[in-house]
Amino acid sequence: MDYTKTLLIIASISSLLLSINAVPTTRSVIPSYGASSPTASRAGSLIGLSAIFKNAQAKAKQQVIRVSPKLISFCKNTENPALCAETINPYFQGQFNPIVALETEIEATLNQSLKVSNIIAQLLVHPSKEAVSALKICKSKYKNIVYTIKEALELLSQQNVVDAYYKFSSVLVHRSSCEDAISQSPGVENPFAEESLIVYQLGGNCMAILDGIINSTLRF
Ligand SMILES: *[C@@H]1O[C@H](CO)[C@@H](O)[C@H](O)[C@H]1NC(C)=O
Ligand SMILES: *[C@@H]1O[C@H](CO)[C@@H](O)[C@H](O)[C@H]1NC(C)=O
Repeated sequence: MDYTKTLLIIASISSLLLSINAVPTTRSVIPSYGASSPTASRAGSLIGLSAIFKNAQAKAKQQVIRVSPKLISFCKNTENPALCAETINPYFQGQFNPIVALETEIEATLNQSLKVSNIIAQLLVHPSKEAVSALKICKSKYKNIVYTIKEALELLSQQNVVDAYYKFSSVLVHRSSCEDAISQSPGVENPFAEESLIVYQLGGNCMAILDGIINSTLRF
């Protein structure tokens, strides 16, 4: 049984995963963060790491986290392994099933996207003149994101991992379009920068996991 092999990890899991993640990689499944320059993209992932690191440290202080070695290995090739393990772990039970774990990460991306959608809807109640057109673009982009993620989940439920991968890849494109609309609006600061960064990180994790499943399937 997996239970007997479950590791009891105190405070070290997040930093362990982070030290793996801290090695800079040249490969990225994600197009861009915010503006489309490579420096902006690098800054984006650095912000992500430090945010998660703070999160992980705060969490580690409060609780002992049990994470199955299978989940650690499942998450280790993602760009944000600590976030991956953290989001899937609460839903993990019984035998480890990579498709179920992937569905959980996709659902976490869906939930986070709905959260951003709600923020946008609230902002559109009394939008500033400078922000209104970007917010409208973002509203429609996030509507597409939510719809696309649901379609990807549907494809996955039909065991169609390859089409789910292609479908899902547009999630990150839509997200970038929203970020670009905001960064190109003079004087407008992104009011949901943090929430949208998490969409980017979770979405990137889903892409890496889909990529890994497709690769290992092709190898057999
Ligand atoms: C997503 O949100 C729904 C509704 O709030 C919740 O029941 C579910 O557990 C969440 N799933 C994940 C993976 O966070
Ligand atoms: C999938 O395979 C390609 C080509 O061999 C490789 O470049 C890529 O890194 C692999 N992805 C994963 C997640 O293993």
